[in-house]
Amino acid sequence: MPMPRRAAQVFTAVLLAASTVTALSHTAAAADTLGSAAAGKGRYFGAAVAANHLGESAYAGTLDREFNQVTPENEMKWDATEGSRNTFTFGNADQIVSHAQTQNMKVRGHTLVWHSQLPSWVSGLGATDLRSAMNNHITQVMQHYKGKIYAWDVVNEAYQDGSSGALRSSPFADKLGSGFIEEAFRTARSVDASAKLCYNDYNTDGVNAKSNAVYAMVKDFKSRGVPIDCVGFQSHFNSASPVPSDYQANLQRFTDLGVDVQITELDIEGSGTAQANNYSNVVKACLAVTRCTGLTVWGITDKYSWRSSGTPLLFDSNYGKKPAYDAALAALGGSGTGGGGDGGGGNPGGNGSCTVSFTRTSDWNDGYNGEVVVKAGSAPINGWTVTLTFTPPQKVASLWNGTPSWDSSGNVMTVRAASYNGSLAAGASTSFGFTAVKNGNNSTPTLGTCTAS
Ligand code: XIL
Repeated sequence: MPMPRRAAQVFTAVLLAASTVTALSHTAAAADTLGSAAAGKGRYFGAAVAANHLGESAYAGTLDREFNQVTPENEMKWDATEGSRNTFTFGNADQIVSHAQTQNMKVRGHTLVWHSQLPSWVSGLGATDLRSAMNNHITQVMQHYKGKIYAWDVVNEAYQDGSSGALRSSPFADKLGSGFIEEAFRTARSVDASAKLCYNDYNTDGVNAKSNAVYAMVKDFKSRGVPIDCVGFQSHFNSASPVPSDYQANLQRFTDLGVDVQITELDIEGSGTAQANNYSNVVKACLAVTRCTGLTVWGITDKYSWRSSGTPLLFDSNYGKKPAYDAALAALGGSGTGGGGDGGGGNPGGNGSCTVSFTRTSDWNDGYNGEVVVKAGSAPINGWTVTLTFTPPQKVASLWNGTPSWDSSGNVMTVRAASYNGSLAAGASTSFGFTAVKNGNNSTPTLGTCTAS
């Protein structure tokens, strides 16, 4: 019977179109948030999140508005996931992961093998037992989250501070020897071949004995085919441990080994302009390194920071944006808080015309960024509308500096000006941008004409 089948097809098409709109709605704002501005640079901007604050509306609201990546602050650690041997508890971490999924945020898995927040039953084991407990822990936790994690901190903080360049004493290093790191990475790859596998540490942010030791390890792993994809730089800074002057150079030398790098736990104690400048420098360093793929701040609001007294984050205790926030956003090329629209003053008339041009500004494996420049003709305009037609199964994941809507096929996107960039003087131009997911198709969208109002 043809009728029900056709009805089902139509229904599916409507559902797809509806889900496209839903998926886009939270990211469709202008690049006046950290996440959308970072997306404009082909990066993510994330925050460490605690499950027990997700019920607080200002906390979840700030998270959802500003960030497009999360790292569970404590919920995936060994003491939280396997407090007693072979009994796994994932409830709190699952809560964060499902929140992230509904918001299209990436999740960093933190962390599988670490000397801290390690239950005492693990430290008490002999070598043989410890080896199997470590591999079992990696296997069970990664299996549970398979397909949901973009990167895992497989091993965290294995090296000593100071000049020795040696591994720190831990149950793993002491009983299994230095080979435990390699073993952890090999086990991790065997469980989930698509998650990125990272080594993560602190006090490795500049060139020093500790980062040299990590560098040597990564170089050795790459030369011997031990699976490692990325290195995380925690970047916990304060006056005793300032942002190093060779921060960018250090990130760069790691990426030159053939790994990605990320800023994974950024917080900078301080306030005002000094703190703002430090944040700006860190963001700029990441943007200057091609394979620095994203930044994560270690918390959302100062009130819940693990170093709360140092007020190291971007939002104050009332979720107000600090100067550090404005500086980070500006460094990402975001539009700041000034974008409040033209208040109705605008340009009178509005019978002008406009032209558009399209540039594909960056490309990576499964995505690209596009930029559309809109230019007013010889008369001022009050608004503009542009269409772009995509080849399925490409999808737009986020869009900034414009307001998108979609036709029923989900492939034709109409973009109107945002509240603040519709009014253009004669000959003036503005732009909007988007991130598209290729889903295996590498075409460039077809740009329609520009309609002025
Ligand atoms: C911290 C959390 O923020 C605290 O809530 C917890 O009490 C201790 O751990 N390096 C890391 C993070 O890799 O997991 C740590 O997080 C901060 C230092």
